[in-house]
Amino acid sequence: MTAAHERQTQTRESALVSFPQDFRWGAATSAYQIEGAVDEGGRGRSIWDTFCDTPGAVLGGDTAAEAVDHYHRYAEDVALMAELGLNAYRFSLSWPRIQPSGTGPADQRGLDFYRRLVDELLQAGIEPWITLYHWDLPQALEDKGGWPERDTALRFAEYAALAHEALGDRVRNWMTINEPWCAAYLGYASGEHAPGRREPAAALRAAHHLLLGHGLAVQAMRGRRSGSRIGPAVNLYAISPASEAPEDLDAARRIDGLQNRFFLDALLHGRYPEDLLEDLAPFGFADHVRDGDLQTIGVRNDLLGINYYTRHTVSGRPGEATQAASSPFSAVSPWVGSEHVRFVSRGRPVTGMGWEIDPDGLLEVLSRVHRDYPAVPLYITENGAGYDDVPDPDGSVRDDDRIAYLDAHLRACARAIEAGVPLRGYFTWSLMDNFEWAWGYSKRFGLVYVDYATQRRIPKASARWYAQTIRRGGLPG
Ligand code: FCB
Repeated sequence: MTAAHERQTQTRESALVSFPQDFRWGAATSAYQIEGAVDEGGRGRSIWDTFCDTPGAVLGGDTAAEAVDHYHRYAEDVALMAELGLNAYRFSLSWPRIQPSGTGPADQRGLDFYRRLVDELLQAGIEPWITLYHWDLPQALEDKGGWPERDTALRFAEYAALAHEALGDRVRNWMTINEPWCAAYLGYASGEHAPGRREPAAALRAAHHLLLGHGLAVQAMRGRRSGSRIGPAVNLYAISPASEAPEDLDAARRIDGLQNRFFLDALLHGRYPEDLLEDLAPFGFADHVRDGDLQTIGVRNDLLGINYYTRHTVSGRPGEATQAASSPFSAVSPWVGSEHVRFVSRGRPVTGMGWEIDPDGLLEVLSRVHRDYPAVPLYITENGAGYDDVPDPDGSVRDDDRIAYLDAHLRACARAIEAGVPLRGYFTWSLMDNFEWAWGYSKRFGLVYVDYATQRRIPKASARWYAQTIRRGGLPG
């Protein structure tokens, strides 16, 4: 090596944006989006099976009956993860695989599938991270009223205890609920997601019971086995007012309240924000909150999962909504009590979902959580970009936009860590293309392309880029 070359290499390495040695480099998926095999192994029906069967509910009439066949191809998928060099993998358990009707003893066939998956991961040196609820409620529980009913929270805690009992010996990291905002408001207010109900007051009850379910589940799991690390995964957004006008400032307060503070205050401070309680009073929000509930919800967490995708810029003044809707069918607002708020575009670049690309927003969210909530280890449990990837004639998938998105967001993570935020890991959404809820298969988020006709997996350029990033322990300066 010449002296000049050596100098150059040194400069390059010292300019590396590096991450802590024990940083978790992961990818995330969820059961319903990848498993398929909906009628195998004794699995019961979930609200998403019913939703997929509802005409007009999912774009193109797509269903997840086969999804990407992960139920049968899990070993191949774990091998792919190993090739990428992931040291952690976040996936969810399908509640109706474990308790087909949402109550009663666990079905061993369901648990056995996850035992096999976990063992495969451990053998490959990949740490399993389990999410207990990623939106696939057993249909039998929805038939009894679903999340707006308090009983669903109690049933969830029972299921959590069963799953933890069976897998807690080999899985250390557990997330209870994924994105309770989506489960409550898209499921029960706007009806864009299963079960497709449009009952704003019921959505508020659902949000409370999802949180209560979290608290009860943590207690039930800790009561049976120690040594696990448990916490929720919430979807947080950076929020900006469209202008300094009082109506816009109020819109930002409201949306930040519904989207972020409602969940963070309850989970980490054991209370609901006062201003939000006022906004929601006309819906009878506090009526179903019983004494002691907030104490249960505010149970100590060992970790907090943050899913981050974008920023919302909002206005409280009348005008045209310019930001793409969250799903193709969002005729009704999920913003209970703040239906007048408009989501406006700042004209910045967006992903294939129409979501503005804003890595600074991620730094903002991380800094805010670190500043306003008790010190709890943080993990980015989802972050990624959906595009309509198309393979080149030679079969390769060049997703430079995704690489740019991930690169910028990882740099935001590095800046947060440097500023003292206890961020310990990053899971990109998603390992592979999959069933994107109401969007069906029209949006691809994977590092790995899936040819849905043959189920062939093709690592995209972003997969190679991520593998290199992991190997290097960071990004070039
Ligand atoms: C999140 C969900 C995840 C996936 C991504 C794109 O809201 O948790 O399942 O759909 O969005």
